Amino acid sequence: MWRLSKLIESWPEAKSEETEEEGMKVLVTYQSLTGNTKKVATAIFEAIGDQKEMKELSQVTTLEGYDLTFVGFPIMGFGPSQEAKSLLANQAAGKNVALFITHASPEDSEPLKDWLRTCKDSAANTNLKGMFHCQGEMSEQIADLMVKSDDAQLAEWGKDRQHTVGQPDATRLQRARDWAKKLTEG
Ligand SMILES: Cc1cc2nc3c(=O)[nH]c(=O)nc-3n(C[C@H](O)[C@H](O)[C@H](O)COP(=O)(O)O)c2cc1C
Repeated sequence: MWRLSKLIESWPEAKSEETEEEGMKVLVTYQSLTGNTKKVATAIFEAIGDQKEMKELSQVTTLEGYDLTFVGFPIMGFGPSQEAKSLLANQAAGKNVALFITHASPEDSEPLKDWLRTCKDSAANTNLKGMFHCQGEMSEQIADLMVKSDDAQLAEWGKDRQHTVGQPDATRLQRARDWAKKLTEG
């Protein structure tokens, strides 16, 4: 009987079934200057299974040991933040990754399509499992800078700040939860 249980324990298939039962190990990491991306990170973290960790992007030293990593960041300067870009380039090659992104633009804005493509390109060396994005509130400080800039388009966006206030709202956070749940439950 003892021998039989030892044999079962060392059997590769039995081991992989055991791992499946334990569920996947997930890391949720994010960068958030004004709290918008952190709200989405928290919603995702709530929605997924038990084997999980949440860390700020600057605290991540490795993605080894995780079956999936959610990487969250704001769009800064028409593309991914530098911190997110370097994590994806230096630590995420070949890893299962899902991106979640916040930005101050309306979700159907034309220029946003290009910026999101740039975000996706920055994860080209990963095994990209999905991408979520939603609007976040534009900080007053950034809106002021934009309004004062020489660029007419930026000045227009800055004036539009009031339309971003309160984002990401409850509907968007629920959308993030549903997306994350679907990705982790297969
Ligand atoms: C320096 C800077 C540059 C930004 N550039 C853009 C941009 O190009 N496009 C955009 O839609 N939002 C831009 N934003 C707005 C942020 O992406 C948006 O407010 C985001 O939700 C902030 O997330 P956080 O609160 O997690 O930092 C910028 C914000 C900052 C601070």
